Amino acid sequence: MKVTVVGAGAVGASCAEYIAIKNFASEVVLVDIKEGFAEGKAMDLMQTASLNGFDTKITGVTNDYAATAGSDVAVITSGIPRKPGMTREELIGINAGIVKTVCENLLKHSPNVILIVVSNPMDTMAYLAHKATGLPKNRIIGMGGALDSARFKYRLAEALNCPASDVEGMVIGGHSDVGMVPLIEKAVRNSVPVSEFLSADRMNQVVEDTKVGGATLTKLLGTSAWYAPGAAVSELVRAIAQDSQKMFPCSAMLTGEYGLNDISIGAPCILGKNGIEKIVEIELSAAEKAKLTESAEGVRKTNDLLDSVLA
Ligand code: LAC
Repeated sequence: MKVTVVGAGAVGASCAEYIAIKNFASEVVLVDIKEGFAEGKAMDLMQTASLNGFDTKITGVTNDYAATAGSDVAVITSGIPRKPGMTREELIGINAGIVKTVCENLLKHSPNVILIVVSNPMDTMAYLAHKATGLPKNRIIGMGGALDSARFKYRLAEALNCPASDVEGMVIGGHSDVGMVPLIEKAVRNSVPVSEFLSADRMNQVVEDTKVGGATLTKLLGTSAWYAPGAAVSELVRAIAQDSQKMFPCSAMLTGEYGLNDISIGAPCILGKNGIEKIVEIELSAAEKAKLTESAEGVRKTNDLLDSVLA
């Protein structure tokens, strides 16, 4: 499998690193607009190959999309990350134009590529990718829920004082501080509902900490996080590469699922060689449903800001 990662910043480089370390792709091409930057990151990463034991070939190019030709999957991380105090939505003005151009460049050289959109505001950027390319809905995947669910599991494990491998939980809805819907009622520790172990207040704290997971890190780091975003993307790419049929919450274009239409938002998706193989409609409680509806309204408000870009 050939994977292109556009944007060799912290998220893009981490993503390339995790893909290489997991050793399932033959080739990763890093692309950046900053002269020599992707080349440097690629060379540095390749010098870890003998240490970390991977055979994936990583190359870097400056804005040369010809080098990405024939990619099976392309990850779009381009644009600016948020700074402390900023919301993901505030990035739209700059990132929309960049993401649209990147999509066009990628498709020119890889007509069959599956796109994974990471740039923020992610649900709106995924929606933009749909509108700008007209690709079938299985071929555009927004990465948010996989990351938010990993952060949810981190918070659950912290509250339960157990390893993250002991817990299961999923976050659906928009990838924003207010829009995330951590499905706490469905979260389990080794198949036992977490409500058996945690008070309502503690569960609520887990939900709130999860929703501001990205903002908490942005405040600490001075910029957006990269390890967990990179790892989350690499898992989505692996599911496609290995046709694993694994389920992740991803931002997917909905056409009636969950009562929503013409919106890309986080919902459980089965991933395989065709990208999104299936959007899974799970039974939601009334409270969960209300939160998802509210989240969709927020995403739509941000989507409306795209009018000038799409005109
Ligand atoms: C975050 C960015 C990737 O949540 O949206 O860290």
